[in-house]
Amino acid sequence: MKRIGILTAGGDTPALNATIYGAVTRASQMKVEVVGLIKGFNCLFNPRVPHLLLNPLHQTIPELDPTLGGTLIGSSRDFVDPEKKEDLDMVVHRLKRLGIEGLVCIGGDGTLNGLQPLAERLPTVLAPKTIDNDLGLNYPNEPDEFLRVPDPSAKCGYHYQRAESRSVFALDQMVNYVTPGYATAVYVSASAIERVRTTAESHRRIAIVEVMGRHSGYIALGSAYGRPDIILVPEVAVDVEMVAERVKQIYDLQKSVMIVCGEGIIDKDGNELGASGGKDPAGNHQLSGAAEALRSALISLIGDAYFRNYRRGESAKEAIFTRKVGHTQRGGRPVLFDRFCASQLGAKAVDMLLEGRNNATSIIQYNATEGFHVEGFDANHLRDRWGLIHARHMHPEFYDARLMKPSRMGIDYLMPIFSNAIGNDDMEHIRNTLFAPGNLLRPYHSINTDVNKRIRYLMEE
Ligand code: F6P
Repeated sequence: MKRIGILTAGGDTPALNATIYGAVTRASQMKVEVVGLIKGFNCLFNPRVPHLLLNPLHQTIPELDPTLGGTLIGSSRDFVDPEKKEDLDMVVHRLKRLGIEGLVCIGGDGTLNGLQPLAERLPTVLAPKTIDNDLGLNYPNEPDEFLRVPDPSAKCGYHYQRAESRSVFALDQMVNYVTPGYATAVYVSASAIERVRTTAESHRRIAIVEVMGRHSGYIALGSAYGRPDIILVPEVAVDVEMVAERVKQIYDLQKSVMIVCGEGIIDKDGNELGASGGKDPAGNHQLSGAAEALRSALISLIGDAYFRNYRRGESAKEAIFTRKVGHTQRGGRPVLFDRFCASQLGAKAVDMLLEGRNNATSIIQYNATEGFHVEGFDANHLRDRWGLIHARHMHPEFYDARLMKPSRMGIDYLMPIFSNAIGNDDMEHIRNTLFAPGNLLRPYHSINTDVNKRIRYLMEE
């Protein structure tokens, strides 16, 4: 291959530029050109196909900085519908007109799900990314455990259910231990918890901080580094009465409580507390109200009388407040660990294309002897028997439902990722750049402004 394409699909993560950087560096070493496709699959639906060369004469363009958050080639949640054969043919035709012989998609489980029909037309591989850390398997035979259950209320006539697992869980059996973006999202969330904590303590309040992750509790689990009192994850139904009792016990002791909840937490009947009813363009449920729903439940269960004793007349409504960490989890400079994983996964994806692999993904593996290392993995091994890739849920053994905290296994999972996740340069960066006097003098200069100068269109070639 002499020319490959690269695109970033789905919600952004802080380490996308690092993945692109790893891919471009490797491709340049192998004398392969890399074409960046603007705004993910979106650009392939546009007949002009906006794109740019990321390594003219096999030299990386200076705008590609692996320490910058976001993605210099832009992202969108557009995807190629596998049912729409003409769209697929058109997309591949446009790629071939650009001289692209293979494609690296940087994306999550949604992108990988759509890879097969593309891979039947052009060699295509994935480099994983997602702050949710939900791309991968808890153990290699996990996809075999999915069952289809007839469900007249579902659009397709069925829903998926998990059969009881017959596997012994062990950390070194996980497929794709961690995804780039996760460590930075946890760094931001744990820092937010530390900050909200001291204000809750000062004002004798109960804080509920909502973190992202959809139906996966990994970010909530990792936020334990910020030392919240209670962590609620989507994988374990919330017993609101038990939470209310625990809140009172802790409040009795320390006059403030810090609760973290994943945005996808469910009640005892399996209903998502935060479901807004809406869907994003890729068909994912939008989850926006988990912390607020939990707050309402605690207000009615704990009641005003309890707070009047402690807070001289204030109501439960005044005592309990919510905050979302929100998109700050996804933005900004990636921490060292994410840059390390991301650049290696990008490079491995290029190697896989050049070795002739197709419909596969690069993954990060971990074991105590080898540490973190990259491998290639066939996408079909992630699919259930009907061909679907399911988002990975945090394994229940990572969470202690009685303590409402990470279990010993959860702690063992987190430690290799986070013990050295932050580099000296990450802290030095804050010292050198945040309060630089120039920030007050000059307007923000967007990377998009520079990238626009390099964008080319298919019609012009
Ligand atoms: O999948 C990444 C993610 O950040 C989720 O954690 C979150 O639910 C969702 O994307 C938010 O999406 P949007 O950017 O559309 O608000």
